[in-house]
Amino acid sequence: MKYKTRLLPYDNKSALEAAEYLKYGELVAIPTETVYGLAANALNENAVRNIFTAKGRPQDNPLIVHISSMKMLQSLVKEIPETAKRLAERFWGGPLTMIFPKSDAVPSVTSGGLDTVAVRMPSNKAACEIIKKCGFPLAAPSANLSGKPSPTTAKRVFEDMNGRIPLIIDGGECDVGVESTVICFRENRIHILRPGAVTVEMLSEFAETEVDSAVLNGLKKGEKALSPGMKYKHYSPKAEVYIINAHGENFRKYCTHRISTERSVLALGAGIREEGGFLDYGKSPEIQAKRLFEMLRRADELGAKTVLVEIPERTGVGLAVYNRLLRAAAFRIIEV
Ligand code: TXA
Ligand code: MG
Repeated sequence: MKYKTRLLPYDNKSALEAAEYLKYGELVAIPTETVYGLAANALNENAVRNIFTAKGRPQDNPLIVHISSMKMLQSLVKEIPETAKRLAERFWGGPLTMIFPKSDAVPSVTSGGLDTVAVRMPSNKAACEIIKKCGFPLAAPSANLSGKPSPTTAKRVFEDMNGRIPLIIDGGECDVGVESTVICFRENRIHILRPGAVTVEMLSEFAETEVDSAVLNGLKKGEKALSPGMKYKHYSPKAEVYIINAHGENFRKYCTHRISTERSVLALGAGIREEGGFLDYGKSPEIQAKRLFEMLRRADELGAKTVLVEIPERTGVGLAVYNRLLRAAAFRIIEV
């Protein structure tokens, strides 16, 4: 235990204290509208290195740089495509991360050795205020231990980061619940590397939009990930997760059988009554996004060995829910 980790509710005073730590190259966990982030000065190599240590994150997995103004963006990148400008106007601050050719100001630890940098401007008030008070951009991955479900409350951050960082700012439950949409540009097309709350449908209004094949399929052996984060095991609780391709009565029947014949089985259904081993992760894609990671952590707390999850809708933010679930389940889908 390197630190006695403090948890402070967000206000002007705690935001000032957070900025103070960050200026000294320390790490602070901060709320964003997507999930909690583990922040460091993106331009300070040593500070950024501490992120990888605290999370146990592979060094070649690049970080997202969080900004509070378009002026900050200009210092980080070599050029800004026209489409990116229009997307920034529409979706920033908000859960959209765009990848640009990086400027020399961005250290190579931050970009995982790549010559590009991922940038987003959050909408969360606490996040924006802290970045403004720092005056420099913040590199921030999700504030979980590498491999675990991303934290959507300060309490979950504390469970993972207690003793590893000096300060967690509590901004309440995250609005969106899944990480930002990550895109890059290919000629005039938008290429989605990670789906999120800024959806395919929304992006399609701006330019031709395509979804990277790794979003719904695992990488084939030897295939190189465009987004290095895609190649790692992700979002996994201790329990074994399976996606069940069934709805309504079929889902209930299948799960009831497994719950009654095996030990420590839990079922996560979409808009169901919570009884006898069944938990509800919400009916709409928006609620599912908000609850998914929390429900996976809760399954562990309840001692589940197996978690059976009803397959979500794949439209809108549902695509992001499905993408995270596929990784939590190591791509195991049971046809019923
Ligand atoms: O919503 C979010 O994006 C949250 C909050 C804290 O802002 N952050 C987050 O960071 O999810 P992280 O580190 O857990 O995920 C970043 C993803 C990884 O999959 C990483 O590989 C990808 O973005 N990424 C970062 N820089 C990249 C780059 N230059 N090229 C391709 N992919 C990149
Ligand atoms: Mg993450």
